[in-house]
Amino acid sequence: MEAIKIGIIGYGYWGPNLARNFFDLPGSDLVAIADLNAESLERAQSRYPQVSPARDYHELFKLGLDAVVVSTPPSTHFTIARECLLHNLHLLVDKPLTLNAREAEELIELAESRGLNLMVGHTFAYNGAVHALKSYIDSGELGVIYYIDAARLNLGLFQRDSNVLWDLAPHDISAILYLLGEKPISVSAHGMPCVSDGIFDVAYLNLIFPKKISAHVHVSWLDPCKVRRITVVGSKKMAVFNDMENELKIKIYDKGVDVPEYTNGGFGEFQYSYRSGDITIPNIRFIEPLRQECQHFIDCIVNRAEPRSSGRDGWEVVKILAAAQHSLANGSTQEVIQWKTQNTVTSPSLQTLG
Ligand SMILES: NC(=O)c1ccc[n+]([C@@H]2O[C@H](COP(=O)([O-])OP(=O)(O)OC[C@H]3O[C@@H](n4cnc5c(N)ncnc54)[C@H](O)[C@@H]3O)[C@@H](O)[C@H]2O)c1
Repeated sequence: MEAIKIGIIGYGYWGPNLARNFFDLPGSDLVAIADLNAESLERAQSRYPQVSPARDYHELFKLGLDAVVVSTPPSTHFTIARECLLHNLHLLVDKPLTLNAREAEELIELAESRGLNLMVGHTFAYNGAVHALKSYIDSGELGVIYYIDAARLNLGLFQRDSNVLWDLAPHDISAILYLLGEKPISVSAHGMPCVSDGIFDVAYLNLIFPKKISAHVHVSWLDPCKVRRITVVGSKKMAVFNDMENELKIKIYDKGVDVPEYTNGGFGEFQYSYRSGDITIPNIRFIEPLRQECQHFIDCIVNRAEPRSSGRDGWEVVKILAAAQHSLANGSTQEVIQWKTQNTVTSPSLQTLG
């Protein structure tokens, strides 16, 4: 079978990681890299002399490519993605898919009408530790899930065209949606623009899911410590996914609190009992999530399969981010998220987006 001919648009911070994987993967043929910036393009050329360089991404449309990977700043995603789809190219767009839900819907509709794959770079959908965490939740080992707490903190990297919410929270939101297998009913957010006027560099999100499960996401470009952690607290056990660990990424704590039955015997008898048992560390076969993501993109094109992080998944995350952004700008209002589409999308399969 012929390799899938790939072009990459955007070779800044993240693009080189995508290029490395698409260059290495069997079944993929990295044909071209486009970047507006001459220095970025020189870096790409010296690393991959056999790959065609282009300042203008429109050059890629003349090369007979099968697919394009978009790794440019989020504000450019919609325009570039739309043009790629209009040129009948399968598409992997990095997160966030777009900066508003209507644009995401338009991309989904366009891809569907042309029979093209539209995938979004939600890298945590390809992370073995997140899969393991989900199996602990789904098996009932953690008991009833009370809440999820996620933290993604570091000093930088400040972005020019988006705030910390749009830059970092897509990772945690996509992971939480996958872990719970549900969409939130509402979201509220508050944050601070500490360094630059009007650009939030610290944000706290609170997502409410059905069955009263809540999820908290703390994202920051302004923290002294690098933290990448998701904690799941259940009635039986608690699990921590620490992405900063090389090997011991998941720990299951047999910890909890039991509340005695009320006996009318007065406050003196009413004692919580704390359980602190073993800590289990599952052995997870870890393969670079981005490599899995790139391989999955190729596989979905070859097998005409729906990607695990599809355009629809991208749309869901964008809808949550947009509601959180509204809350952030309006004094932390509680935003109810309407999952039913308002007939702005006409394709039959998209009417099921709600
Ligand atoms: N999945 C992940 O873990 C992950 C991690 C980091 C970044 N990202 C995502 O990757 C994307 C890129 O982020 P980044 O940090 O690399 O940004 P960046 O600013 O470092 O790089 C973007 C590159 O795109 C180029 N560019 C901009 N407009 C262009 C255009 N019209 N045509 C061609 N090139 C153009 C710029 O010159 C720059 O080299 C973003 O969507 C970001 O959210 C994903």
